[in-house]
Amino acid sequence: MDLKERPLNVRGDKISEETKSLISSLPSDADGQGKKLCKYQGCWYYYNTLQGVLNFHRGFQPQDTDIILASFPKSGTTWLKALTVALLERSKHRSSDDHPLLSDNPHGIVPFLEIDVYIESSSPDLSKFSSFPRLFSTHMPLHTMQETLKDSSPCKIVYMCRYAKDTLISWWFFVCAMHKIELDKSILEYIHKSFCSGAIYYGPFWEHVLSYWRGSLEDPNHVLFMRYEEMKAEPRDQIKRLADFLGCSFTKEEEDNGFVEEILDLCSLRNLSCLEVNKTRRINNVDHKDYFRKWEVGDWKNYLTPEMENKIDMIIQEKLQGSGLKL
Ligand code: A3P
Repeated sequence: MDLKERPLNVRGDKISEETKSLISSLPSDADGQGKKLCKYQGCWYYYNTLQGVLNFHRGFQPQDTDIILASFPKSGTTWLKALTVALLERSKHRSSDDHPLLSDNPHGIVPFLEIDVYIESSSPDLSKFSSFPRLFSTHMPLHTMQETLKDSSPCKIVYMCRYAKDTLISWWFFVCAMHKIELDKSILEYIHKSFCSGAIYYGPFWEHVLSYWRGSLEDPNHVLFMRYEEMKAEPRDQIKRLADFLGCSFTKEEEDNGFVEEILDLCSLRNLSCLEVNKTRRINNVDHKDYFRKWEVGDWKNYLTPEMENKIDMIIQEKLQGSGLKL
């Protein structure tokens, strides 16, 4: 199946002349749809996303209380967004019908800096973020974001990391769902090839993960490294870890009153995917329902051939060597 036959309905590209000129000097490639990618500061972007990154660089004014949720695509971003919203909103909206997660998808509540907020302009209207802390998200690697944050902002960054092979399989399902096509092995092969070469949207995967891993070791008070698999295996401990990092630890009374379990239940894939808002609505041309699938660790075993598995394992092992990180 050639995805070029089914072009995705992407938002209009507003690429400035300056950005076009920059792009002409950058390494380039294309994805399975033939949509062009360019490599900026070591990371592969679609042209309109790069414009969003540059707009962000130009216009973002960090505030000390900002919280930025970061991830490689398909690593559990939706879950991290839901958990953080639920944590921050827990006293205001406990058991109430007006909880933001009941009326909007986590991606609508916590927009991406470079894909949503700054996609069209370096001076977007931020009035909707008037309450504090402001909550944003990003798929940019840490070094690119830090260029804007510099040392001036002690804002907090939370990174969600996931095993490479599960991320890849989740990507495959997502691409097929977005294009409304049957699962197709030739698309998996293409994604696998791009994933391994590194030339995939926001890739290379290993550079992305390492940027936040190293950042979390260098500055643990400002960069928290979380793992999808740990979140699944020990949800109570991990949500408390997240709350501690964000400076909104659970009180003993809250714990005794079941706040932790309530938040985990509210943000569970089972619960979120059953909400009307996530069954019927869309954001950025993506059906909300496509953000929710299986919540499984090791699903790759059902789809990758031994050759595909070995290739990823070898690359990841080589790239992460000496970092102390295992994926
Ligand atoms: P699978 O496709 O392996 O099921 P992202 O949010 O970064 O796009 O990642 C999508 C992955 O996170 C999908 O994985 C999806 O099912 C899973 N996911 C989405 N919401 C979740 C939630 N509330 N809890 C656990 N996993 C969730």
